[in-house]
Amino acid sequence: MGCPIGRGHHSSRLGTAAQSGVNGRVPMLLDHVAATRPFDARDQRARGVTALRRGREAFRRHGGRGVLRTGAQRVAARLYLREDHVWYALPLGSVQLSRELPADLELVRAKPDDAALAVQHDRRPDEIARQVDEGHELWIVRDDGRVAFSCRIYVGRAPAIAAPGGWFAVPRGWVCLEDSITSPDYRGRGVAPAAWEHIAAHAHTHGADTMVTKVARENTPSRKAVSKAGFEEVGMMRLTRIGPRRDVRFSNVVGERGKALAQAFGARVVSSGR
Ligand SMILES: CC(C)(COP(=O)(O)OP(=O)(O)OC[C@H]1O[C@@H](n2cnc3c(N)ncnc32)[C@H](O)[C@@H]1OP(=O)(O)O)[C@@H](O)C(=O)NCCC(=O)NCCS
Repeated sequence: MGCPIGRGHHSSRLGTAAQSGVNGRVPMLLDHVAATRPFDARDQRARGVTALRRGREAFRRHGGRGVLRTGAQRVAARLYLREDHVWYALPLGSVQLSRELPADLELVRAKPDDAALAVQHDRRPDEIARQVDEGHELWIVRDDGRVAFSCRIYVGRAPAIAAPGGWFAVPRGWVCLEDSITSPDYRGRGVAPAAWEHIAAHAHTHGADTMVTKVARENTPSRKAVSKAGFEEVGMMRLTRIGPRRDVRFSNVVGERGKALAQAFGARVVSSGR
């Protein structure tokens, strides 16, 4: 597995192994070249194979009826979808390492081979591994052999259903936090905010100045957790999709970071905050 970064009840440190990154290369957080590669035939083929595998796995797990129900929900979402997300930003220059992980838990930056260990419910390990190979980061908090938490850091571009093509360009100098999940047994112990603080400090060390993340408006536990780590609200993003038509608008936009996000989505700003 990857490289320890922070450990519960020990002073925080950036392990030397951590600096070697994936495939033994120094992790350049701001390496936009690898991360912004446009989609090509390889991506299309990989998507096709992944979709087939996913279909088989879903059938095995949920049976024919379950697959039909999920399919119907997906079709409905294709016809009409409305989502509200709150965007949060954390200026990395001001990050204080004020939180420690609970005792015996350890934060590591994972290698592509560790993808299967991530506590991801919605994505296939091979897809995660491919993204880690592309230069995005997978972080894991482990408790001996168990995975207590995982999240991803996207550099250069990040996935978002509201963006055309499903990806948006992350502004230069920024990184985007996604797919945070604490295993149910470990929730409510401050694992996520402590991990984010250490990851933020690591990102800052490697040249990033801002970490952003989006949280579904109604996701109260997550909104509480990101606030504990020092993230501040910089805008509300509403996606409305009716058939092929998509409308993305930002409201309550705060500061330059909020504006830059709205711009990254090519969204209309309908109201500003501060
Ligand atoms: C959001 C999430 C990552 C927070 O992780 P965490 O390590 O539990 O973070 P915290 O310990 O700081 O808890 C945050 C809030 O979760 C809630 N919470 C506490 N115990 C909980 C439990 N056993 N189960 C669920 N939520 C709990 C509380 O509201 C808590 O805030 P509070 O301590 O101020 O009351 C975690 O709840 C999770 O994995 N949720 C499901 C996936 C998800 O929504 N991911 C975020 C996508 S943006």
